[in-house]
Amino acid sequence: MKKLTGTASGLKGTIQIPGDKSISHRSVMFGSMAKGKTTVENFLPGDDCLSTISCFSKLGVKIEQNGSNVTVYGNGLKGLRESSEILDVGNSGTTARLMMGILSGLPIHSVLIGDESIAKRPMKRVTVPLRDMGARIQGNQDGNFTPISIQGGGLRGLDYVSPVASAQVKSAILLAGLQAEGVTSVSEPFKSRDHTERMLRAFGVEVKEEEGGKVSLVGGQKLVSDLHIVVPGDISSAAFFLVAGAIVPGSRITLERVGLNPTRTGILEVLKNMGASLSYSNVIEDGPEPYADITVESSDLKGVEIGGDIIPRLIDEVPIIALMATQAEGTTVIKDAEELKVKETNRIDTVVNELKKLGADIEATEDGMIIKGKIRLHGCTLDSYGDHRIGMMGAVASLIAEGETVLQNDKAINVSYPSFFEHMESLRRG
Ligand code: S3P
Repeated sequence: MKKLTGTASGLKGTIQIPGDKSISHRSVMFGSMAKGKTTVENFLPGDDCLSTISCFSKLGVKIEQNGSNVTVYGNGLKGLRESSEILDVGNSGTTARLMMGILSGLPIHSVLIGDESIAKRPMKRVTVPLRDMGARIQGNQDGNFTPISIQGGGLRGLDYVSPVASAQVKSAILLAGLQAEGVTSVSEPFKSRDHTERMLRAFGVEVKEEEGGKVSLVGGQKLVSDLHIVVPGDISSAAFFLVAGAIVPGSRITLERVGLNPTRTGILEVLKNMGASLSYSNVIEDGPEPYADITVESSDLKGVEIGGDIIPRLIDEVPIIALMATQAEGTTVIKDAEELKVKETNRIDTVVNELKKLGADIEATEDGMIIKGKIRLHGCTLDSYGDHRIGMMGAVASLIAEGETVLQNDKAINVSYPSFFEHMESLRRG
């Protein structure tokens, strides 16, 4: 439990945003599948990524982690050995789904479990296509929920048309496809984040992208590594302070080395459309993932409509966008975002619940929410419900709420941003 109070003087200063969660997971996974040594700088030492390290260590890979520096000594796919232990993914959907793809290709038996939240998250979105490729997967409710058991090997390529825009689904199939006979391809209704494609290419794999966004690769390609991966700051973590800077009067904050992969930058477009003041410096575009420093200043905001193909590019930012909308003049509509229901919590419900407690004018819809502003929020007792992004939304809300806010289950924030409260404190001190 954490007691939080508002700030009258604004947020000031510079922070370095911790490493991107999606890229950190993939650096360990692909480093483990590759032959050779992979060194990773600015790895995110959050609980989710530590679960990935623990799972691959159980599969026999030597991995050294010291804070945000990681070294993976990969021995190729053949170096991944059957584990006598259960693989625990903790709270991490990315670990669960991407590993299901990798394990489906290996001639070994594996069992995956996770925490209470993972036990409610649908796995059929990967179980079904992986079974079509030849993997034998079992789990609760016909393979939809953990515990999941996988007997892998003997896969054939698949041309998969995914009903959801999900990088976890796309990645699981491509990673299985790398170990399958023939070509594997994935099309999605809208383009999801492409970190897998970018990093596989860095490991020497040929990944093709056709017009219309269909991604394909030929099975049997080997990952080779002598790579040094520099993980950019996570734009999904930066989002909390970008919004804090925009809504706390008198603020001016610089966030260093924020990842600017175009499949992730929907939040920046929304901030701009709502009237936020953003400027960019030290833009680096020559590596596999672009990044830059971003400065945000507080400003007057207005409501906007958010829906369609931008949704996958900001899906993890919806909680903090909803809070921002309470401070914008007019109505904000978020639609086409049903995927929120299957995140760490049902984020339509948890966002609406917690913002209502703070006094917001917000209502849930079938595929999103409608928020009316501008409303003066008041302190209250909030719950993260074990969802890191709901916890951080509540903590940022406390900065503008009148009186004291109590945040229950604040430890969930360690999943993606262990230094969150330290950073918030340093910006309050200015
Ligand atoms: C992730 C993809 C997204 C995102 C999650 C991380 C990834 O999920 O919400 O936090 O690393 O591939 P979906 O792919 O299911 O949309």
